[in-house]
Amino acid sequence: MFPRSVRLLACAYVFLAFSAAHAPAGAASPDQITDEKVHARVAALLKQMTLEEKIGQLSQQFVFGKPDEVEDAVAKGQLGSLLFVTDPAVINQLQHVAVEKTRLHIPLIFGYDVIHGFRTIFPVPIGMAASWDPSVEEKGQTIAAQEASSVGINWAFAPMLDIARDPRWGRMVEGAGEDPYLGSAMAAAQVRGFQGPYIGSPEHILACMKHFAGYGAAEGGRDYDASYIPEDQMWNVYLQPFHAAVKAGVGSAMSAYMDLNDVPATGNRWLLEDVLRKDWGFNGFVVSDADAVKNLKTHGFAKDLSDAAVRGLNAGVDMEMSLGPGAYRQTLAAAVTGGKVTVAQIDEAAGRVLAAKIRLGLFEHPYVDEARSKQILAMPEHRTAERLAAERTAVLLRNEGHLLPLKPGANHSIAVIGPTADSQLDTLGSWAFQQDLNETVTLLTGIRSKAGAGTEVSYTSGVQIKRKFPSFFDQIFHVPPSPEWSPEQAAQEIQKAVDLARNSDVTILVLGEAQNMSGEAASRESLDLPGKEQQLLEAVAATGKPIVLVLMNGRPLDIRWASTHVPAILEAWYPGTQGGNAVADLLFGDAVPGGKLSFAWPRDAGQIPINYAHNTTFQPENQARRYWDEESTPLYPFGYGLSYSTFSFSNVKVSQPSVRVGQSLDVTADVENTGDTTADEVAQLYIHQQYGSTSRPVRVLKGFTRVTIPAHQKTTVRFPLTPEDLRYWSTATRDWVQDPSDFDVWVGGDSTADLHASFAVTP
Ligand code: NOJ
Repeated sequence: MFPRSVRLLACAYVFLAFSAAHAPAGAASPDQITDEKVHARVAALLKQMTLEEKIGQLSQQFVFGKPDEVEDAVAKGQLGSLLFVTDPAVINQLQHVAVEKTRLHIPLIFGYDVIHGFRTIFPVPIGMAASWDPSVEEKGQTIAAQEASSVGINWAFAPMLDIARDPRWGRMVEGAGEDPYLGSAMAAAQVRGFQGPYIGSPEHILACMKHFAGYGAAEGGRDYDASYIPEDQMWNVYLQPFHAAVKAGVGSAMSAYMDLNDVPATGNRWLLEDVLRKDWGFNGFVVSDADAVKNLKTHGFAKDLSDAAVRGLNAGVDMEMSLGPGAYRQTLAAAVTGGKVTVAQIDEAAGRVLAAKIRLGLFEHPYVDEARSKQILAMPEHRTAERLAAERTAVLLRNEGHLLPLKPGANHSIAVIGPTADSQLDTLGSWAFQQDLNETVTLLTGIRSKAGAGTEVSYTSGVQIKRKFPSFFDQIFHVPPSPEWSPEQAAQEIQKAVDLARNSDVTILVLGEAQNMSGEAASRESLDLPGKEQQLLEAVAATGKPIVLVLMNGRPLDIRWASTHVPAILEAWYPGTQGGNAVADLLFGDAVPGGKLSFAWPRDAGQIPINYAHNTTFQPENQARRYWDEESTPLYPFGYGLSYSTFSFSNVKVSQPSVRVGQSLDVTADVENTGDTTADEVAQLYIHQQYGSTSRPVRVLKGFTRVTIPAHQKTTVRFPLTPEDLRYWSTATRDWVQDPSDFDVWVGGDSTADLHASFAVTP
């Protein structure tokens, strides 16, 4: 597996042992440094730096297990940042080179893809969003920051804030789904988790919001392909989570790979200067995605490498991330001499990078305490937090006849069937590199330990998941494809699974995708259950025995058949290090599912894109039957998720029937737990503006809160609605507007909520 092989490779290098004479990096600044001090120090440094040294600060390079390949460039001050080094000894080695050998002793900043955990792997981000609980995200990224900083990483390439409305796009797994309001809440929470109260907070790291912006709208869901996004969608939908991250103080941003309306995001001055810096006042720095500056030529945008560097810098990309020596490093000095860019521009970009290093305390404390990381990475409370997070992210999609929770002791034999049910790697999902696979609890292991000695738990995989192409990471790290079963063996394995189900009291069928079927360069054209999973599902269901379907996947799949033939379906996403224990807690009732979908679940790929916040158009009464051959509603709506209990919403009230433009109001409603189990409900507030300067969506989310309610008790939820919530970016005025209009309000447990109130906004 990639990180392991890289780590092993890295370990093979013999490095001097460094005793950390300083406090650990990331534990550097007990107090926040003032902006004036930062600016003064940046100015003083820039005064002493040569042009080449400044350009060095703008250059970042990957280190794939061979640190000696970059040492010389680091010593010459040609690199300001490295990524993908995770061994604290190697980090110290390279940092010593930077601090001791460069003329001005400027430390490196070490970046890494800390996406959903470092050693403790949390559920994948699409799952974290399904918690509808920003505190789960904040806690998860706080732990990720603590673990990553303990090895000397200063900077996470996360959060990924791309709105995804096309699940064929494999990177949907990395984000918070389709909705800008939920996405914004999750964005801010992650920034707080990574960075803590301020940049440079002890045991925290710099966050990097990505991929700025519009990457999630790749045509056809094909990763890296161009996006065409109308301006109003851009402002009202795609940019919203990024703006929320800026408001939360995010310290860096990554420019995306793709063309946005025919201008590459990495050469897009409108995005990086007009929106990000001028409109939003972002004062961090921008790094390109890997090789995205060089790719400006590939786009048919830049003439050559030098033009790519010039256009990247002119657009506002401060630092170039590069697999080898980058375009900035190779050509920017000549571009200055040739008058294509100015020294002032280079100063500005280098100043932003230096400011981040100063804020992080890297000049005072460049080294990491190598011994300490072992203790941090082993912390049991991190695993406990992960288990709780995984429990809060699961979504119960169906539970006919209350099959779930399984009654402890009621089943003498349980069949666990499925190709990923006992796979540690698949339990973690994509973008997990630094885990300890040995401690990863698979669903089979979790179910076995929960079921106890009196219950026989048997396992068979049933099918293989085979892939047509090896994934991006498989190619980079030369992972050989697993040997394929012959047709005869495949048939025998399905029969074995059927026999096992027939001879067991209950079957837990674990289906979905292998972990690398979503993530980067992992788009799919169909949402079918992969390989022979559907065949396995139908064959096992034909036994007539009770079946619980547990899904592990990073995108919605076509489960139309299961949704009418299988009594219980639990969406577990890729649940992480303690995933098996968490899922077992949910299956046996030690935890109650309360997660909700952060996207509308399509019936099949032909419905894509399908999002709840669409407009009403001609013949709305036929909106649900726009297709000849399939309904046009989703299989499960946005915000949907069941519980082991039931809830009822009532008594919705608006604080004022009418407010003026610029005024706020409140919406309240009662939520009652009408069942016998203490459980969570996510109360959701949707609004609809009835008329305005442009057509408005049928409903949009404007508030949510996850509440735990004891059995048969009631609570009141309150949602403030501010002018900010009631405005939108209008194509008519090409600006933000708040229209006088009439508004509908709904409060309920998903986006089809029908508890209604209304209010008016007057001039
Ligand atoms: C490319 C990916 O698009 C980005 O998300 C990631 O952070 C960088 N590579 C670095 O690995």
